[in-house]
Amino acid sequence: MIGPLNHVGIAVPDIREAMTFYRETLGATDITQPKPLPQQGVSFAFINLPAGQIELIEPYGEASPIAKFLERNPKGGQHHVCFEVDDIHAARDRMVERGMRVLNEPRIGAHGTPVIFLHPGDSGGVLIELMESPKAGH
Ligand code: CO
Repeated sequence: MIGPLNHVGIAVPDIREAMTFYRETLGATDITQPKPLPQQGVSFAFINLPAGQIELIEPYGEASPIAKFLERNPKGGQHHVCFEVDDIHAARDRMVERGMRVLNEPRIGAHGTPVIFLHPGDSGGVLIELMESPKAGH
């Protein structure tokens, strides 16, 4: 069911500082400007690589879902991995059928397509994001 690995999500306390590290130290050349995503309580920026992306996420607002993660990991850290799926509702139904805890109803993510998150306790300790593939022409 899962398609390409779309991105690895990395939670950071300071997105601009993280962007500088990826640009200056690792030599990434294609980094998007940070954007708030208030519905998800984060600001994000993408580091575009020849294959795949890194998604830097910084808390946005009072009740950010990554605030606790950053309390435990004050320097930031690897937060989730995201796989593409063709149809997010079919994927959600399949996950529920298989006994996975789905953490949210499909909602629009950073790529403008619907996403769900799966409870890491059901997936080997890894927070998994499933994201509907962007359709051609969108
Ligand atoms: Co993500």
